[in-house]
Amino acid sequence: MPVTAVIGGQWGDEGKGKIIDYLSCDADIVARFQGGSNAGHTIQIKDKEIILHQIPSGILRKSITCILGNGMVIDPVNLVREIKDVETIGINTTGRLFLSLNAHIVTPIHKFLDAYWENKAGNRAIGTTKRGIGPAYTDKIKRCGIRVRDLKNRENLREKVQNQLDYLKLLDNISNEDIEGIQKELEPFFESCEQIKHLAADTFSIIHKHIENGSNILLEGAQGTLLDIDHGSYPFVTSSNTISGNICAGLGISPKDIDKIIGVFKAYNTRVGAGPFPTEQLNEYGEYLQQKGYEFGATTRRKRRCGWFDAELARFAVKVNGVDYIALTKLDVLDELDEIKICTHYENGRYPEVYLEDAKPVYISLPGWKKSIKQIKEFDKLPAETINYIKKIEELLSVPIKIVSTGKEREEIIFID
Ligand code: IMP
Repeated sequence: MPVTAVIGGQWGDEGKGKIIDYLSCDADIVARFQGGSNAGHTIQIKDKEIILHQIPSGILRKSITCILGNGMVIDPVNLVREIKDVETIGINTTGRLFLSLNAHIVTPIHKFLDAYWENKAGNRAIGTTKRGIGPAYTDKIKRCGIRVRDLKNRENLREKVQNQLDYLKLLDNISNEDIEGIQKELEPFFESCEQIKHLAADTFSIIHKHIENGSNILLEGAQGTLLDIDHGSYPFVTSSNTISGNICAGLGISPKDIDKIIGVFKAYNTRVGAGPFPTEQLNEYGEYLQQKGYEFGATTRRKRRCGWFDAELARFAVKVNGVDYIALTKLDVLDELDEIKICTHYENGRYPEVYLEDAKPVYISLPGWKKSIKQIKEFDKLPAETINYIKKIEELLSVPIKIVSTGKEREEIIFID
C-alpha cells in the first residue's frame, strides 16, 4: 500500500468510509487532512451502524493510529461525543488518536455564525451542514483562528474565544438571547477542550517517521471534488480544498510521498445542499435512487438529491486528483432499473469552462440487469449488463475500476485484478 489516498470524486457521500474500512485491514495509520464534522462516514458492521464525523474510519481496527491533520477544523464537543460512541462499541482509542497541534478549532461562535450567514443569504444560501466549518476556516485565513496548540493554555484560550464573541456583537441584529445562547454553550465547549487537549501531538513527525519506516498509510479525503473551494461548483462548495492536491498542505507531507490515489465514485450522482446538479432527476428515477439508496445526509439527515452518473464531471475529478484507479460504490442500488443512463458529456462545453447551471447533459442509455448482485463475490459472475455498465464508465473515464461495492456490509465488495 505504502501511502494511499482515498478521495471523493463527486459531491461527497460516495461511500469513502466503507472503502477506507476495507483498505485499512493492513494499514498502520489513517489520516485526515481537511474538513471537520461536516463529514459523515457511515459504516455498517453486522447489525451496527457507525457514523464517524471527524475520527478516521480506521479507528474501528484496533492496531491503527488515527491522525486529524493540520488542515482540519476540529469541533471539540463533537469529538468528545464521537470518542464516546466509538468506545461504547468496545473500541479503545487511547494512544491511537492524535490531533495536529496546528489544526484549527471550531467554537460555538463559529456554529452560530454558520447559521447566521446562511439565514442572511436567503435564496443564495449554500445549504451548509451548520457545523461552523466556513467561519472556522474564515478565521484561519484571517489569521485569528484558535488552534489545537492553544488548548494547552486555558487563560489564553478563553481570551481568544472572548475576542470572537466581541467581534460577533458588532454584527447586525445580534440579540441578547443570541449571546446568552452562545454563552450557555461555552462551558461545555471549554470542558470538551480540556478533555481532548492531551490528544494534541506533533503529527508531522509521527507521519514522517512512518513514511521513513515504509508503513502503510491511508489518507482519508472528506466531502468530494465538486465541493472543493477552488475546483468545485463555487459558491456551493465547502470551505476547504477536498482534492488530492491538498493532502500535502493538510498533513505536511510532500507530493513525492504519495504512492497511489484512489477515486471513489458512486454508481450514480447525489448531492446534498444547494447548487447546480446537471444530471439531477426530479422524477421517478431520482425518487427511486433516493429511496433504494437510502440517500439521506449522514450529518444533517437531509434527503440527498439524486441523478445519473455524470462522466463529464467524473473525468474532471480523475484529472484534478490524478486518480490511479476507481472504487465504484452502491452499484446494487441500480439492481431493479430497466434502463440506466450515463451523461457522457455536455452538449455546450467542457467542465470547468462551462458554467454548471447552464450545462446540457448528453446521455446514453444502458440496459439494467434486473437482479440482485449483493451476494456476488467475483467480477466474472456479475450479470453481463452490470459488467457492461462498469466497462462503459471505465471507457468514458480512461481509468480502471478495481473495486466495486455491491452493498452496505463489509463483505459486499469485489476486488478486480
Ligand atoms: P459546509 O461544509 O457545512 O460549509 O457545507 C457546504 C456544502 O457542502 C453544503 O452543500 C453541504 O451540504 C456540503 N457538504 C459538506 N460536507 C459534506 C459531506 O460530507 N457530504 C456531502 N455534502 C457535504
